[in-house]
Amino acid sequence: MAAQREHFGGRFTAILALAGSAIGLGNIWRFPYMVGQTGGAAFIIIYLAACLLLSLPIFLAEAIVGHNTHSGTYGAMEKLAPGTKWKWLGLLTVVTPLVILSYYSVVGGWSIGYLWQSFTAGFRDNEIGAVSSAYANFIAAPWRPLLFHTLFLLGCAVIVSAGVKSGIEKFNKITMPLLFVLIVVIMVYSLSLPGSAAGVAYLLKPDFSRITPSAIAAAMGQSFFSLSLGAGTILTYASYIRKDENILATGLGTVAFDLLFALIAGFAIMPAVFAAGIEPGAGPGLIFETLPFIFAKMGAAVPWVSSVVAVLFFVTIVAAALTSAISMYEVGVAFLVEQRGLSRHKAVVLIFLGTWTLGALCSLSFGPLADTKIFGQTIFGFCDLLTSNFLMTFGGLLFVLFVGWKMPKAVVRDEFTAGGTEPFNKAIFGAFWFLLRYVAPIAIVVIFITNFLA
Ligand code: TRP
Repeated sequence: MAAQREHFGGRFTAILALAGSAIGLGNIWRFPYMVGQTGGAAFIIIYLAACLLLSLPIFLAEAIVGHNTHSGTYGAMEKLAPGTKWKWLGLLTVVTPLVILSYYSVVGGWSIGYLWQSFTAGFRDNEIGAVSSAYANFIAAPWRPLLFHTLFLLGCAVIVSAGVKSGIEKFNKITMPLLFVLIVVIMVYSLSLPGSAAGVAYLLKPDFSRITPSAIAAAMGQSFFSLSLGAGTILTYASYIRKDENILATGLGTVAFDLLFALIAGFAIMPAVFAAGIEPGAGPGLIFETLPFIFAKMGAAVPWVSSVVAVLFFVTIVAAALTSAISMYEVGVAFLVEQRGLSRHKAVVLIFLGTWTLGALCSLSFGPLADTKIFGQTIFGFCDLLTSNFLMTFGGLLFVLFVGWKMPKAVVRDEFTAGGTEPFNKAIFGAFWFLLRYVAPIAIVVIFITNFLA
């Protein structure tokens, strides 16, 4: 057992760390596209409702388990439901973030590779076909992506081994404000490009006819993913929040930052995409093909501006990915330290070895291991699908059921008084309790089925 547990310094630093986990590739490569494709401003309203009515209660449920027990995922279940099958939820949520970390680190590595390129050769391919094949060649060539994957994971290891306060908290305290500054700078630049107005229209033009049941399920799924729910990371970070902190305020702050960042990212990316006269897309293609193409086009006019913007952009991606990755890393470290009595450094090394190996297999699955298929998916694709579509949703569902139906109501209620230091608000708790017990489980099952059919 860890003798002395570390804590985040205060509410704001806790929010920064949680927002660090939440804000990541999901905000940059998926949200803007979904908004544009699914009804613009109309979708944003639905998304906001999904965040507040669904994801916030799930976030709070997960956070309450960590905050109440001041333990990592497994220890929390052992404390609240000793000797029961709930320990499997504790174990599941150790495994889920580590699998995510393994392939997330591969994409983090690509971003380092592209950052390196924006410093050195820059982006010159003026033709989208050439950009696409450069990307395909880069990720397939075995050694370079492996090297960058190693670098990315080493970066995580260094930060996490420095501890919760001097590592994770400090890194987020510096990086998160920087991330917001960077994305705003990129947005201002992007909006200044001729032809950018079409990108703004793409994001804002309300089209209520696109708000179909499947669009609503997509909004729920996106807010679930974007807030890193169901993976034990929210639980683990919340276990480092002081007893007398207000969990509801922390949750609201995190949701607000996550949403704000996603919106700014949309206005940073889509106007540039439209100014360059290309079709928007989502996923890795947006970051590693569309944008390098835009940088090359811009570079033809004013080379140095394009290089600067490319560097800023890939710094943003790498930093956003790092702040998410360390939150996954910490879940495994907390488990090994608390449950297995390992020193922090030993735990960091073990997690490194495990996730590096699985990540290396994911990385190689774009090249030499491309023909190794699991359920028809490459190793990378399988890890992604397994976690995003199944393990996270399943973990989220179990947390919701645990807090809503198994934990004593009085204990949950107590979490709404900041350890007894603030008055209890019956209406807010009542709304939370209803959403948690009835709305969230049904909604998660809907997301689950939608994912399954997709
Ligand atoms: N929320 C992160 C993003 O938007 C991705 C993510 C999904 C995640 N699940 C997670 C991060 C679990 C940490 C832990 O990119």
